[in-house]
Amino acid sequence: MLYRILDYAHHLLEQSIHPGETALDGTAGNGHDTVFLSKLVGDKGNVLSFDIQEQAIESTHDRLVENNIHNVNLIMDNHAHFEKYIDEEAILGGAIFNLGYLPGSDKTIVTESASTLEAVHGILERLKKKGLLILVVYHGHEGGQEEKEALLKSLSKLDQKQYNVLRYGFLNQVNTPPFILAIEKK
Ligand SMILES: C[S@@+](CC[C@H](N)C(=O)[O-])C[C@H]1O[C@@H](n2cnc3c(N)ncnc32)[C@H](O)[C@@H]1O
Repeated sequence: MLYRILDYAHHLLEQSIHPGETALDGTAGNGHDTVFLSKLVGDKGNVLSFDIQEQAIESTHDRLVENNIHNVNLIMDNHAHFEKYIDEEAILGGAIFNLGYLPGSDKTIVTESASTLEAVHGILERLKKKGLLILVVYHGHEGGQEEKEALLKSLSKLDQKQYNVLRYGFLNQVNTPPFILAIEKK
C-alpha cells in the first residue's frame, strides 16, 4: 500500500522521533502536526510550534487544550527566528513544515522561500544524526511554484555525504498535488 502524503510524513516522523526529544513544527496551522509531534515526544519531551498568524495560534491552542497537551511551546513568530526560542546546545529530534496557506483562511498569508530556506538550513544544523526534517510542499497557490523551485534547487545541492534528500509524491494526480521533501541527517 502506498501512503497518502500526510500519512507518509507522519510515518517517517514516527520512525525517527523518540520520547524525551525536542521536535519542531514550523507551521502550526490548525495544530494537527503539533499534536502528532507532542504525542511522539511524550511528557518528558517538548515541541516548539510556530505560526505567524493569530488565527492559527488560536486554533492550535484550542486543539492543545482539547487534547490536554502540556508539552508544547506555541510561538507566534516567523519560523526563521526559531533559534531565539531554543537553548544554544539543544538538538532537535525532528521537524515538519506544511507549506502554503492555512486551509479555510487568508490565502495571501503563505510560506515564502527566503524564510522557509533560512529555517530549513538552521534546523539542519540542529538536527540529531538520523533525524528527519520533513517539508510537505503545496505549490498550487500564488507564490507556491517559486517556493517549490527554490527548495528543489537548494536541497538538491546538499552534500550527499552529510544528508539524504528524498522526494515522495504521486505523478498522476490532477491539480498540482503536494509532495514531500524529507531530509535525513547522516
Ligand atoms: C498549510 S498551513 C499549516 C497546516 C498545519 N500543519 C496543520 O496541521 O493544520 C501553513 C501555515 O504556515 C503559516 N506560516 C506562513 N509563513 C510562516 C512563517 N514564516 N513562519 C511561521 N508560520 C508561517 C501560515 O500562517 C499557515 O498557518
